[in-house]
Amino acid sequence: MPASSLTLTARERLVVALDVPTAKEALAMADRLSGRVGMLKLGLELFCAEGPSFVKELQARVPVFLDLKLHDIPTTVRRALDALLRLDPRLVDVHAQGGPAMLEAAVEAVHAHRAAGGQTELLAVTVLTSLDREALAALGHAGQPEDLVLAYAKLAHQAGCDGVVCSAWEASAIRQACGEGFHRLTPGIRPTGAATQDQARIMTPAQALKQGSTWLVVGRPITHAADPAAAAEAIVAEMLS
Ligand code: C5P
Repeated sequence: MPASSLTLTARERLVVALDVPTAKEALAMADRLSGRVGMLKLGLELFCAEGPSFVKELQARVPVFLDLKLHDIPTTVRRALDALLRLDPRLVDVHAQGGPAMLEAAVEAVHAHRAAGGQTELLAVTVLTSLDREALAALGHAGQPEDLVLAYAKLAHQAGCDGVVCSAWEASAIRQACGEGFHRLTPGIRPTGAATQDQARIMTPAQALKQGSTWLVVGRPITHAADPAAAAEAIVAEMLS
């Protein structure tokens, strides 16, 4: 069984978004960060380019969050997850928007995997931050995006998911509604003084932890740093400050 979020060290809470274009660059980054961070987040772009065997190579260096955001009918998601879980990533995710039956099918797949000795935990993506109030209205959702985030988090919790991907700004409300044991993985983290790049609603590592983030996703402040290992160490130190 995976460890409780309460026992995670600051280092284990740091997830680095590996948004680099090639396997060669990704593996070089993984070698530099091995032992210094909790996980590497591998997205669709690199997975489509390099395939499942590359996940194994990466995971030999650092635990992997396979961020593929699955979203389909329940049977298809279940079967896709059964295949992905052979790689035994540390985390996988699906879209909460797939609805209760799809989430339950995903939970079944992950529970069967864990019963067989696997380590993977399942997160649900709440609302993409690229969808603002206007975009949600066009999709037929009235009201504030935060309300939809909370509704999706509750749905994921009820279905048996292990946590959600959300903004650190929503972590506190989700912790309150779903409990401490339901993880919150939060992108949009910037160390004090770092460039915000294209992120709009950012938080520092210490603020995000205080707000109830279980895992903090940091990309460019580490991967674009002259010394990525030192940048990761500085963020771990900032989490502890
Ligand atoms: O470089 P940066 O720290 O901004 O990278 C953040 C990572 O988290 C990227 O991989 C981005 O796609 C992802 N992400 C995000 N906001 C979300 C969901 C995912 O920034 N709401």
